Amino acid sequence: MSDLLPALLGADGACQLLVNGAWRPARSGQTLEARSPIDDSLVGRVAAADTQDVDDVVAAAAAAWPGWRDAGFSRRADHLHAAACCMRQERERLLHLLTEEIAKTRASAEEEVDRTADLIDYFAEEGRRYYGEIIFGDSFPGYPRTKICQVYSEPLGVVLAISPFNYPLNLSASKIAPALITGNAVVFKPAAKGALAALHMCECFRRAGLPPGVLNAITGDTRIIGDALCGHPGVDMVAFTGSTAVGRQIAHVAGMKAMLSELGGKDAALVLDDADLDLAADEIVKGAFSYSGQRCTAVKRVIAVEAIADPLVAALHQRTRTLRLGDPREAATSLGPLIDDRAAAFVQELVDEALAKGAVALCGNRRNGRYLEATLLDRVTEEMRMAWEEPFGPVLPVLRVADLDAAIALANRSDYGLQSCVFTRDLDRAFAVGRRLDVGTVNVNARDSRGPDHFPFVGRKDSGMGTQGVHYSIQAMTRTKSIVLNLRLPAG
Ligand code: G3H
Repeated sequence: MSDLLPALLGADGACQLLVNGAWRPARSGQTLEARSPIDDSLVGRVAAADTQDVDDVVAAAAAAWPGWRDAGFSRRADHLHAAACCMRQERERLLHLLTEEIAKTRASAEEEVDRTADLIDYFAEEGRRYYGEIIFGDSFPGYPRTKICQVYSEPLGVVLAISPFNYPLNLSASKIAPALITGNAVVFKPAAKGALAALHMCECFRRAGLPPGVLNAITGDTRIIGDALCGHPGVDMVAFTGSTAVGRQIAHVAGMKAMLSELGGKDAALVLDDADLDLAADEIVKGAFSYSGQRCTAVKRVIAVEAIADPLVAALHQRTRTLRLGDPREAATSLGPLIDDRAAAFVQELVDEALAKGAVALCGNRRNGRYLEATLLDRVTEEMRMAWEEPFGPVLPVLRVADLDAAIALANRSDYGLQSCVFTRDLDRAFAVGRRLDVGTVNVNARDSRGPDHFPFVGRKDSGMGTQGVHYSIQAMTRTKSIVLNLRLPAG
C-alpha cells in the first residue's frame, strides 16, 4: 500500500475516480479490493462507481472537449511527452504494481512500462505530423482546378477507453494517447485487476497539466457501470480490448457509436517441412508461455506438418519443461500464477477434455490453485475444444497435419483471425502462405506479436473491429471533414 501515489488516495486509502481534473471518491463511498494473484495479499482498493458517477465523468469529458479540440496538436503533443516523462520517473512504482497486482515477472513488467512511455511519445510525434490533404477538382472530368477540397481530420468527441487486465498500461495508453493527441476527451475504464497501475498512469497524464476533464477515470463493477458507460449518449466512440463475448455485448449496447475493438484469438504457428526447428521451437515457446499465455497474441496452437512433427515436438518439449513456475518476484521464475482461480479452472477444463479424448501431456499439467505449469499437449485433434477455444493460459496444443494445404485449411477454420506465424526457410513459400491465411497479421519466422506498437494491428472475424497501431489508431479516432473552396480567379 505504501507504494501508491498519495494524490490518488482518498481518506479511506482507496484509489479514487478522476473527475474533471481531481481525484474524488465514488458517490456511494464504496470500494473494491485489489488482491494479488500471487498470494491474495491486499495491494490496494479502488472506488466502486455507480451510474451517477458515470454521468459525472461523461459530463466532465463532454464539457472539456471543445477546449481540448481547439488547443492544437503542438500543445497536446507537449502534454503527452510530459506524461511519458512522468511514467519514466515513476518506473519503479509502476513495475512494483504490475508485479503485485497482476503477477508480471520483472522482465515482462519492464517491457510494458518502457514500451508504453515510448508509445505515448510516438503518438505525440505522429500527431504533430498528422496533416490533412488538398484535392483539386480538375482530376474529375468537367470540374475546374479552382474547385478545391480541403480534407481535415477532426476528433470524434468523447472516447470511452476500456482496457483489460493483462497490459494495464500498454493497452490503456494505446487508446488514451491517440484519443488525446487528436483532440478527443477521454473517459477511461480499466479492468478491476490492474486498475492501480492504470490509475497511476492517469495521474501521470494529470500531472502533465491536462486541462480538467480532458481525461477522466472510472472504476467499478462492470455489471453496474458497463452498460451505462457504453450506451451513454455523451460517448461518441468505444475503444475496447477484451474477450469476444464482452466485445459483442458492448457493440450491442453502443449501437451506432464508432467502435475499435481488439478481442479474442487462437493464433496458430504453422511449421513447414523446411523450417529451422530450433528457431521455430524457441519462438513458439516464448510466444506461448510469456506472461503465462495471458496475451492476445500468444501462440495458442501449433500446426505441424507430419514430416517434421516428431523432431519439432521434441524441441518444444525440451524448452517447455525447463520453464519454472513460481513467484514472479523471484528472478528464476519464468511463469507466475494466472490472474484468478476461474481463469485457471477454465484452462484445466480444456486440458482435461483434451486428455480424455486422447491428447498426450508431454510436460506440465500440474496445478495448484491458479498456479499452472507450462503444459505441452501433443496429438490434439479437431474433436477437442482445445483445438478451437482460447485458453488464455500456459498450455500449448500441437495438431499434426499431412501437408501445407491441410495446415492452412486448419489454421483458417477458426472463429478468430488475429495473427498467425509461419516457419519456413523458403521466403517465396512464406509469402504464398501469408496471402492465404485469414488473419490480420502473418509473422514469418518469429512468434506473433502486437508490437512494435506502430505496426498495424487488426483482427479478422471474431478477433475485432478496426485497425490499431499509432497511425491507424489516430485515423480511427478522427472523422473526415471537407471544406470545398470555389475560387473565382480574375482572368489573366
Ligand atoms: O495482449 C496483447 C498485448 O498487446 C501483447 O503485446 O504481442 O507485443 O506482446 P505483444
